[in-house]
Amino acid sequence: MKKWELYKEGKIKLSKEEIESYKYSEYRHNRNEESFNTFITIIKLPYYIFWKFPAWTIRKVTFKDMREKQQKEIERLKLVMESKERARKSNILELEKYEKAFEVIGFKDKLGNYPLFHSIEKDEDRETISFKSNLTLSEWMNKKESLETVLDTNVVSIKHQKESKQIVYLDTTKKGMPKLLEWKDEYLINDGILPIGQDIFGNLIKFEFIYVANVLIGGAPRGGKTKLFQLLAYQILRAGGHLIIAEFKELDYQKFENKCQVINDHGELKAALIKLGKERDKRKKLFRKVDAENIDDYNKKTGSNLKRYYLMIDELGEAMEIANPNMTKKAKDELEKDIAELARSGARLYSAFGIHFIFGTQRPDVKVIEGQTRDQFIGRICFKAVKNTSNIVLESDIASNLNSDDKGRAYIKIGADYKEVQVFLFTHEMINRLPNRKPPKENLKIVKSEEFENENRENDEIIDVDITL
Ligand SMILES: Nc1ncnc2c1ncn2[C@@H]1O[C@H](COP(=O)(O)OP(=O)(O)OP(=O)(O)O)[C@@H](O)[C@H]1O
Ligand SMILES: [Mg+2]
Repeated sequence: MKKWELYKEGKIKLSKEEIESYKYSEYRHNRNEESFNTFITIIKLPYYIFWKFPAWTIRKVTFKDMREKQQKEIERLKLVMESKERARKSNILELEKYEKAFEVIGFKDKLGNYPLFHSIEKDEDRETISFKSNLTLSEWMNKKESLETVLDTNVVSIKHQKESKQIVYLDTTKKGMPKLLEWKDEYLINDGILPIGQDIFGNLIKFEFIYVANVLIGGAPRGGKTKLFQLLAYQILRAGGHLIIAEFKELDYQKFENKCQVINDHGELKAALIKLGKERDKRKKLFRKVDAENIDDYNKKTGSNLKRYYLMIDELGEAMEIANPNMTKKAKDELEKDIAELARSGARLYSAFGIHFIFGTQRPDVKVIEGQTRDQFIGRICFKAVKNTSNIVLESDIASNLNSDDKGRAYIKIGADYKEVQVFLFTHEMINRLPNRKPPKENLKIVKSEEFENENRENDEIIDVDITL
């Protein structure tokens, strides 16, 4: 530390002369510093005047900062445009690819325009491709088979966009439908939800009777209707449900005879429909007591395990047209009318009470099942069939495109959509797993039905209400 600083801190004492001399040299030093700085500034002045200031002025006047910023932004946009252009080029390739494919199969609208490629989304095995066109959904569906060939893929479903009917989505996959599916008991759910098979992605397809109310099965001979009936019968009986099977020609259900009621006669069918009507009345009273809307609601509210009833008619045509040479025409007409009437009101009124119909037919025309009754069958499935049958069952001729060699292959209608499904194969050995039917207690039955009739008469004033789900 310098002497002067030690003095300033009060650590040493200096004489007056010494102090003055130090003060003076300090003053001199500061002056010299100032002079030097002024000198340097003067020297630098031309640099400020002739370079720094004009550069700054020019920068301001010519908006150089702003232009540099703009240049950077232009470069960024150029990169974006380049990547967009690359995407557009690959889109053009897609556009060309699909246009060529549509040209090959002659798939165009009335003005001769082919559908325009819109977008593609990939998710593992699935590719959803959308197109814009003026073609209707049924025109797309009718071309499904050709589309699959020309695009070399499987079209799983064809749907509209919600916002625009011009945009159609094809759900596609290279995966193939399974040829044969074995049933496994692990698929069993309960007596109201019956799995039937799998779609192309291996998803379990099932009928939930709380929603479908009744099921209509269509298809040409040898498609797999009876096998499906048997698969459903198996599940219903395994789950403890009640089942009545009606068949009039074939002997496909003999093995079920000691497992559930099997009917071969039209008189018995009428009696069964009446019995189901009584069961419905009985359930109506029970449900009313706890204000239950349907069987699931009733079971939930009361903690009981009321089981569903099912009436299966394998070939509806034979149930609705009696071919008995021993009956007079009048008797036949009357019985046919009664059965049709009971089926009509049953389909409309029973399902909420857990009483369902599963009807199958090769030709579902009005003679066999009239429109109003048919509307109560929300569950629809159709094996390979002629266009007319497919149209009636599915409201689309999509099932006519199925291959008759693909046994157990069908289309199921889900809302406005269709799903191809491979039905689990029922094998006769499965019947051995079903419990045997209890021997009928004839006397007890008569007493019960009499009691029931009396009960019914007491409540004749009950108004029939249509319970819809
Ligand atoms: N889910 C299935 N998986 C594999 N094969 C099946 C399946 N369903 C049926 N089949 C085969 O197809 C044949 C015909 O099936 P099914 O008897 O069920 O047809 P159908 O539609 O009832 O015919 P029909 O109208 O003549 O009564 C069966 O014998 C069986 O070999
Ligand atoms: Mg059959």
